[in-house]
Amino acid sequence: MEQSYEDFKRQVKENSDIVEVISGYISLQKKGRYYWACCPFHGEKTPSFSVDKERQFFYCYGCHAGGDVFSFIEKEENCTFAEAIRILAGRANIPVPEKHRTAADIRREQKRKDIYTVNELASRYFSACLLKTDHGKNALAYFHNRGISDEIIARFSLGYSLPGYHSLQMNLVKKGCTEEQLADAGLLRGRKGSFRDMFINRVIIPIKDPRGKVIAFGGRVMDDSLPKYLNTGETDVFQKRETLFGLDVAIKAIREAKEAIVVEGYMDAISLHAAGVNRAVASLGTAFSEQHAKLLHRAADNIVFAYDSDDAGRRNAVRAVGIAKKEGLSVKVINVPEGKDPDEYIRVFGRESFENLVKNAWDGTEFQIRYTLSKNNITELAGKVQCVSNIIPYLLECKTEIEVARYVNFLAGQLVIDEGLIMGEYRNAVANLSRKKKIPEPVGQPVRKPVPDILMQAESKLLLLFFRYPGIISSYKDILQKIGFVSPVRQRIYEIISKMETSDFSEIRENLFAAGDPEISSETARIFADEDFPPDQESQIQIANDCIRKMQLNFLQKAYDTHTRLAETYASLNDARYLEELKICNELRGKITNLYGN
Ligand code: UTP
Ligand code: MN
Repeated sequence: MEQSYEDFKRQVKENSDIVEVISGYISLQKKGRYYWACCPFHGEKTPSFSVDKERQFFYCYGCHAGGDVFSFIEKEENCTFAEAIRILAGRANIPVPEKHRTAADIRREQKRKDIYTVNELASRYFSACLLKTDHGKNALAYFHNRGISDEIIARFSLGYSLPGYHSLQMNLVKKGCTEEQLADAGLLRGRKGSFRDMFINRVIIPIKDPRGKVIAFGGRVMDDSLPKYLNTGETDVFQKRETLFGLDVAIKAIREAKEAIVVEGYMDAISLHAAGVNRAVASLGTAFSEQHAKLLHRAADNIVFAYDSDDAGRRNAVRAVGIAKKEGLSVKVINVPEGKDPDEYIRVFGRESFENLVKNAWDGTEFQIRYTLSKNNITELAGKVQCVSNIIPYLLECKTEIEVARYVNFLAGQLVIDEGLIMGEYRNAVANLSRKKKIPEPVGQPVRKPVPDILMQAESKLLLLFFRYPGIISSYKDILQKIGFVSPVRQRIYEIISKMETSDFSEIRENLFAAGDPEISSETARIFADEDFPPDQESQIQIANDCIRKMQLNFLQKAYDTHTRLAETYASLNDARYLEELKICNELRGKITNLYGN
């Protein structure tokens, strides 16, 4: 039976309860008839975003965004209506009707399918080369020498690629694959007409997705030649930042233990499994990412990092800990003694000994602190100061004040300085964060851009309204706390009047003039000079909202500029943080478009 697009749409909508869908993005709280949250589309600290389950729509009293479940997805995912339907259909497991797939959809799906097929065939071929050829005997011996049994070889589908330049290519073409498909899967290198195998005379480690489908390969040399590993590049089915090696075989053990052990290398993960530590996965030489943390959080509450004990490994661990903490996981870091990596350690000392390391692992924050201490000369005052300021961000990542207090105490002991001093620094940092999530101006840019007239008018008008109708101030406190006034003097005026408990216009004015600050007086007078008051409350609110919108726009645009510059700087340094900055930029751009749109 032919399903119409309207039917499909209706079916998707019926299976996409707005409360459930939105709960997947932000956490909603039921109060009375509605569900509430802080609006994901504009910055705020008190919830004005409401969801009506009965009527299946949302509305934000702050930024006036609103609509049904489709419009929510469009806004949140920054996508088109058609894409929103697809996303929700995917979530509800409803297949997109064949004839409504675009040609591009079909091509993409087909390409992905082909890559899976080719990978599966390649994996079986590598396996056969390992187990059933003469050349493979060497490779098999290599695995055995490293303590990897036939059982583990089977569990991880380990394999071997023959020394020829075209072995895999010829074998798979014979089985009906095209060279393009093999190249799409990352199994060939070179160009059309002169393709050759990517992996030559290497032991092969297939990388699988959590459901066990092969998505990529790693290949290791069997001697000391370089490069040690070759890996499939990113393809349509393989993104490094979203993949954890071994998750398919480890997932059950991770669920049971509610804990995952994260290592850096293929061999570390395989070796841990071989020794019976089955909750190990590897982040594969790429930095531990937010996506990795999210992936693990679905199955685990705890993460134990067992990185190499060299300096690079420890530096990676400090960073990884921060990411896992932010995801809300509890984090530990193993200190593998004697400069060994987990593979070497467990092969020498065995499983029990390794589990003891896990038991005695440092808490993540303690590790971050110890690492920082070891990197500074803390016998000198300058070193101590540097240490404290390096460590404050790690304290800010902690979930509870109790933890913070414990680490402050620990740090004070290590540095032999007063606990109160460190706590003071920490409190300042907290206050800075919450007062204004203001991004520091980049260094070397001391001159502020001249404040545009529109912004000055908006700020003045808003203050004028506040003078006249102090009753409305309270509804703007949260947003103003975040975005503030661009002009320092207007910021000060605002702070004075928002603290006054009076609702009397003339009293406010007197108080301001009585402050005796010439700057404040003259600015107040300038603002009062504009006597153009809106008569009714509705227009007051409208005008105030409009001023706020302009101020917010300016705030967001400045943040956007700053983050763009940061992204560019990181990118030029080849620092992976540029991706985070780009993400922030995208979010900001979405918010800016929203504000313009309204
Ligand atoms: P390691 O050098 O620690 O690898 O790099 P390993 O797994 O312990 O390997 P063995 O014990 O020497 O056999 C950690 C990870 O970094 C990636 C691999 O994913 C590796 O597992 N890497 C390393 C590469 O991709 N290419 C390289 O040349 C080296
Ligand atoms: Mn190793």
